[in-house]
Amino acid sequence: MEDVKFDSTVRLAVDYVEGILQPTPTCDTWDQIWNFQARPDDLLISTYPKAGTTWTQEIVDLIQNEGDIDRSQRAPTHKRFPFIEWKVPGMESGLEQANAMPSPRILKTHLPMHLLPPSFLEKNCKIIYVARNPKDSMVSYYHFQRMNKGLPAPGTWEEYFESFLAGNVCWGSWYEHVKGWWDAKDRHRVLYLFYEDMKRNPKHEIQKLAEFIGKSLDDKVLDKIVHYSSFDVMKQNPMANYTSIPAEFMNHSISPFMRKGAVGDWKNHFTVAQNERFDEDHEKKMADTTLTSHFRFS
Ligand code: A3P
Repeated sequence: MEDVKFDSTVRLAVDYVEGILQPTPTCDTWDQIWNFQARPDDLLISTYPKAGTTWTQEIVDLIQNEGDIDRSQRAPTHKRFPFIEWKVPGMESGLEQANAMPSPRILKTHLPMHLLPPSFLEKNCKIIYVARNPKDSMVSYYHFQRMNKGLPAPGTWEEYFESFLAGNVCWGSWYEHVKGWWDAKDRHRVLYLFYEDMKRNPKHEIQKLAEFIGKSLDDKVLDKIVHYSSFDVMKQNPMANYTSIPAEFMNHSISPFMRKGAVGDWKNHFTVAQNERFDEDHEKKMADTTLTSHFRFS
């Protein structure tokens, strides 16, 4: 893989919050994030990075607006959905954005379940969780860290492979994340979805989302939402493809945010040896959960 080439903008440094790697501005303001006050009608979209967060945000916004694209294209993704733990010096933080936003709000987080600000559960907020298979998540995250200065440089693919397996990436271990939220879904108001199901049958998953949100939509509106949330249409939509972020922070010429949107791209990256090592590690780490059957790598 080619090396990461960037202009002079410095990447954010990272540190730990409760053992989870985070950009330092997030670590420095952790008390405020932990004490964030959710409102009962907040809808939270929670994911491990690269699981299809932006896709889900677009779908949920289209559902809320009953397929009205003028409404859903009112602002870029990062302005429509406050990312509660995100903070970049000199820019409005996720908390500031959320606090200034009238209800009903749709919020975003990548926090593992045990670091979720408690008020979301105290207020019994609806939470949508999306999981994506770890091999494609790893590949997508690697390319994202190459193009995004808000996160550390990923190093070589071989180095990144090891960092990901060790959970030494921002927001921690994929395994702890998907398992923690899987357990939470039985105790809280969590709808747990899979990226691969959304790819296989988007209309079905969109219907599930609409039902969870409490919106009854007719077939024509559902078809419209399938169309406007498809990869090809979102890739061309400047309000959904992150091209509104200045290129010194997100450089789409290194790797576009809307990269491939496919299942199985890991096959173009993993060596045979890496795949064997991954499968062995995966089996061990998934031994204590019923979630295992959802991730098959054929
Ligand atoms: P790839 O890098 O594999 O292409 P997130 O929003 O959580 O950061 O996830 C980004 C990943 O979701 C990227 O994966 C991106 O291409 C993919 N994605 C975004 N919109 C999508 C859509 N409408 N359909 C399928 N995949 C989508």
